[in-house]
Amino acid sequence: MSSHGDPIPMTSSACGPLSGTADVPGDKSISHRSLILGAMAVGETTITGLLEGQDVLDTGRAMQAFGAEVINHGGGSWSVHGVGVGGFAEPDQVIDCGNSGTGVRLIMGAMATSPISVTFTGDASLNGRPMARVTDPLALFGCEAVGRSGGRLPMTLVGAADPVPVEYTVPVPSAQVKSAVLLAGLNAPGQTVVIEAEATRDHTERMLAGFGAEISTEVTDAGRVITLKGQPELKPLHIDVPRDPSSAAFPVCAALIVPGSDVLVPNIGLNPTRAGLFTTLREMGADLVYENEREEGGEPVADLRVRFSPDLVGIEVPAERAASMIDEYPVLSVVASFAKGQTHMPGVKELRVKESDRIDAMATGLRAAGVTVEDGPDWWTVTGLGHGNVPGGATCASHLDHRIAMSFLVMGMATQKPMSVDDGGPIATSFPIFEPLMGGLGAQLRRNNR
Ligand code: S3P
Repeated sequence: MSSHGDPIPMTSSACGPLSGTADVPGDKSISHRSLILGAMAVGETTITGLLEGQDVLDTGRAMQAFGAEVINHGGGSWSVHGVGVGGFAEPDQVIDCGNSGTGVRLIMGAMATSPISVTFTGDASLNGRPMARVTDPLALFGCEAVGRSGGRLPMTLVGAADPVPVEYTVPVPSAQVKSAVLLAGLNAPGQTVVIEAEATRDHTERMLAGFGAEISTEVTDAGRVITLKGQPELKPLHIDVPRDPSSAAFPVCAALIVPGSDVLVPNIGLNPTRAGLFTTLREMGADLVYENEREEGGEPVADLRVRFSPDLVGIEVPAERAASMIDEYPVLSVVASFAKGQTHMPGVKELRVKESDRIDAMATGLRAAGVTVEDGPDWWTVTGLGHGNVPGGATCASHLDHRIAMSFLVMGMATQKPMSVDDGGPIATSFPIFEPLMGGLGAQLRRNNR
């Protein structure tokens, strides 16, 4: 089943060269944060380039339920009239975050230090994902949580009436956990400190500073120590959301494996905590060039020019790079199938608790398509067959996971036989224009029931 509606089986077949410009949508992580922090500021925050994927729309609806006014002005332009830190009203309905782990975990953090009770739920994928990683640190502030066994949704959180500040070392490399603690720290008196051993995406820290919070990051032997002064008045901002490197990954990887391709993917955010895939692809021999490198809104941005690369080679992807490309491993495993030799990907335990177990979902589909994959608890290895040699011809389960569906559809653009997915519906959570965008470049995608 698709997260919202009937399954949409889809097939992708070998196509001629991909060419043209791929205008991918706004960054999902930054879009969620814009709506949540906008709702916690005093006054009107304006946002352009917001990702209008289902995940972000669900977060916008949630912010309205907490009392903020969220207005869609059309064309990716939105405004949020915030209620201020500590100003959330108690929603009179269950908050349904759909498919979005980022949405639910960040919102839990944002409400955890307000004296309100909130019940959260999601789709079958989200309701199977671990929430204790967030509710454990939120308990230190005084927030109580009762959910299903295994710390799963549906779950009710009772926010702390008298929150205390917290010092917390994040036990897993997770920007969602780090961000939940920081957002909770906003309405606690004194200083909240978060320590992360491995650097994860830092959009929350950057945006909090932009909204006028006192926040600093110190790099120490223990990792990054982030200190936030509680109970600021957040001042509204204008946010121009950069385009999502995690969505750019799909046209970029497609162009690398489809013969003759030459594609421009403009205005891509290249924050170093997000750009690990592009470094990895270049190490594999990808013809991928950063053009017009610049800085926009405090984030490094470039246009990506990518051309078919027939001589890709497998590599060892450093474990310490994992956090900066965690959402890109599924599509990297597709590119690795077309490279010569083995691509070994260690240090990726977190992939097992995403929208699906992404190692399992990809390994199963890749094997069905004729590719050899080995995997363990926190690593996997793909043995590439070289350009032109990947059989394909499999129908793969997308497991309510947008990135699994898009990865197999990219794969089918260059396999000998078409690749199908049982449900392309989840693609709308993060990349609602995937089909027309890839079709416009020359991809052969079709919905099987039409
Ligand atoms: C995200 C963090 C990552 C990533 C997710 C978005 C964020 O999750 O996989 O798609 O916006 O903070 P984790 O924090 O679980 O690693």
